[in-house]
Amino acid sequence: MKETTILDKRFREMIPGEIINRRIDDMAEQINRDYAGKDVVFLGILNGAFLFAAELFKRVNLKARISFVKLASYEGTKSSGSVKELIGWNEDIKGMPVIVIEDIVDTGHTLELIVGELKVRKVANIKIATLLYKPKAYTKKIPLDYVGFEIPNDFVVGFGLDYDGYGRNLPSVYTLIKQ
Ligand code: XMP
Ligand code: MG
Repeated sequence: MKETTILDKRFREMIPGEIINRRIDDMAEQINRDYAGKDVVFLGILNGAFLFAAELFKRVNLKARISFVKLASYEGTKSSGSVKELIGWNEDIKGMPVIVIEDIVDTGHTLELIVGELKVRKVANIKIATLLYKPKAYTKKIPLDYVGFEIPNDFVVGFGLDYDGYGRNLPSVYTLIKQ
């Protein structure tokens, strides 16, 4: 079993890089089939989705664009608490089919916010591609169209996902070893 240390924590390899890459082959093939002949915009959610987005996008053979947005948190007024906002929009996506690319869907709060923003921007339709999905944590109704792997409700790193900013460059997905 491959193990690694990031900062003060130990992690165990859960999904090897080769398996991830093969799964991304399948996901891209499915997207290529579903969107054949269409002009599509991919929307990656920074930071975590940058690696999965790159791996997926290079396998896509459609007429396609890619753009990235980032979720910024700032302190709102006392009554509203911490407010989250999506920043970095720079593509005209009105009327376009959009595929959102996420590293992981956990509770689904982030996804709900993104889908809300896309509806405001009047896109033609929205599909979701996520590398990882924690079904036991998910509290929303938004359907996930392309899921790489369903995983248990544990903290994971690697393939773009971080622990305090570190571990994103690991080519496999690792799970936290609880002590
Ligand atoms: P929600 O709950 O909004 O969470 O679906 C999505 C965002 O939370 C982060 N997240 C994780 N990051 N390991 C991580 O490195 C995890 O196990 C994990 N679970 C959630 C991530 O930023 C994701 O976009
Ligand atoms: Mg993170």
